[in-house]
Amino acid sequence: MTDAARIVRDRAGAEAPGLAIVLGSGLGALASEVEDAVRIPYGDLPGFPAPGVAGHAGALVVGGLRGTRVALLAGRAHFYGHGEAGAMRGPIETLAALGCEALVLSNAAGSTREAMAPGALMAITDHLNWSGRNPLIGEGGDARFVDLSQAYDPALLARLRDVAAAREIELHTGVYAWFSGPSFETPAEIRAVRLLGADAVGMSTVPETILARFCGLRVAAVSVITNYAAGMGAGPLSHDQTRAEAAKAEARFTALIAGFAEGFA
Ligand code: HPA
Repeated sequence: MTDAARIVRDRAGAEAPGLAIVLGSGLGALASEVEDAVRIPYGDLPGFPAPGVAGHAGALVVGGLRGTRVALLAGRAHFYGHGEAGAMRGPIETLAALGCEALVLSNAAGSTREAMAPGALMAITDHLNWSGRNPLIGEGGDARFVDLSQAYDPALLARLRDVAAAREIELHTGVYAWFSGPSFETPAEIRAVRLLGADAVGMSTVPETILARFCGLRVAAVSVITNYAAGMGAGPLSHDQTRAEAAKAEARFTALIAGFAEGFA
């Protein structure tokens, strides 16, 4: 049990949240759907990212989402903040200590596929760790040799697809490539990772998936496509564009994740 997990239990109750959710850039609205929400600022939780680093809200929200008890992380720290691939280790260890069984990660991402336009949702089937960094570097013991051959849980992926089909939400699937950021990629880098099988590119999620698997959490992940990747679209890339496009897709994203939570045992 981490110190942070003890604080969460004291404030939100001992009942384990079955499902944990990390909200990506511009995707904070899901937090307002949580019923009987207990909101704990990251600043109150040892090992969580310092306020400001997290970018957006920076709070852990525990409560009910469509009848399922969830722990929602509104705000994440990125590798590009301080060069630490393990920036989200404290929160993820805390989710595991609270008894969460599965983690749904989300992010804003650029598309490398013409057929996947801005506004699309993509369930991640696998990843390319293009940054070359790993949050478990320096970790001792054999548990650090984490198997990633099914990093994104096939049953959770199937559940995402079922929920999307039932709600008539178009859901692509594909491979996510992690770049360190914070600069966007070059067109040459995008051509390279396209050849290697990337469907989307972004600056998060991969280190969290590795940490979550290390902690024994099952993982599902969804990218909200906010732009065509560098060299593919019309104009320059910007974080303003990321935020604005994520906001446009947010209602569909929220419906997908809320549907995923409903009846999650
Ligand atoms: N590249 C990296 N990260 C991103 C992008 C992108 O094109 N869009 C949103 N996040």
